[in-house]
Amino acid sequence: MRKTLVAGNWKLNGSSELNRGLIAGITAGLGAASGGEVMVCPPYVYLAAVAAQLAGTDVLLGAQDVAAEDGGAFTGEVSAVMLADIGCSHTLIGHSERRTRYGDSDEVVAAKFRVAQAAGVKPVLCIGETLEERESGVTMEVIGRQLGAVVDAAGVGAFAAAIVAYEPVWAIGTGRTATPDQAQEVHRHIRSIIAGADAKIGAELQILYGGSVKGANAAELFALEDIDGGLIGGASLDVAEFLAICKAAAGT
Ligand code: 13P
Repeated sequence: MRKTLVAGNWKLNGSSELNRGLIAGITAGLGAASGGEVMVCPPYVYLAAVAAQLAGTDVLLGAQDVAAEDGGAFTGEVSAVMLADIGCSHTLIGHSERRTRYGDSDEVVAAKFRVAQAAGVKPVLCIGETLEERESGVTMEVIGRQLGAVVDAAGVGAFAAAIVAYEPVWAIGTGRTATPDQAQEVHRHIRSIIAGADAKIGAELQILYGGSVKGANAAELFALEDIDGGLIGGASLDVAEFLAICKAAAGT
């Protein structure tokens, strides 16, 4: 039985004061919504402070990205070893905003996936097609290419210690969620790619859905066979919405 995970990707938002309020609200409210895993992914600069605030709770801490290199002359980067050092158990890798705006190619994403795993930080590999790709009917090819690049570089065995997040780019921050059928179809495809190489790893892989998830649509999405929780952007900055999503996940 796969656990559900609800992960809040705070993106480029937050402040010391706002974060304190968010964490206090989430941890206080979660008592009633326990049953699934919950994670927050603040900007790098706040990770250590949020780690301290989360001490003694079950809420997991993730980064939003990681350097592809281990260390050295890479100004501005943060390594996976550093993330592990300050208490991050997970990191997002290959978010579409990194792929489209900061040049994270499939190869760079695969390198980041490998360095994160080597440091004991579990990668949450984000994949998803653009609207143009969906409308041209190449969604499954795009998913296959993005996932295949990491399978080729790290081996399918690496997915025993990784999470995949399907985030259709056209659903991110648009209010336009994938329909349950659209989401389930891609999730099943992702699982079948991994299961085709290793049935057990495929069956146990957590696959999250991301893209305009909110309290009102979470339960319907999380009830689907191959959806094991969500990666939440905007709604993760609102305590009541985020808790409603966590509750929906705990109920599935
Ligand atoms: P929204 O929930 O704001 O659509 O963002 C999704 C996302 O990109 C999470 O990583």
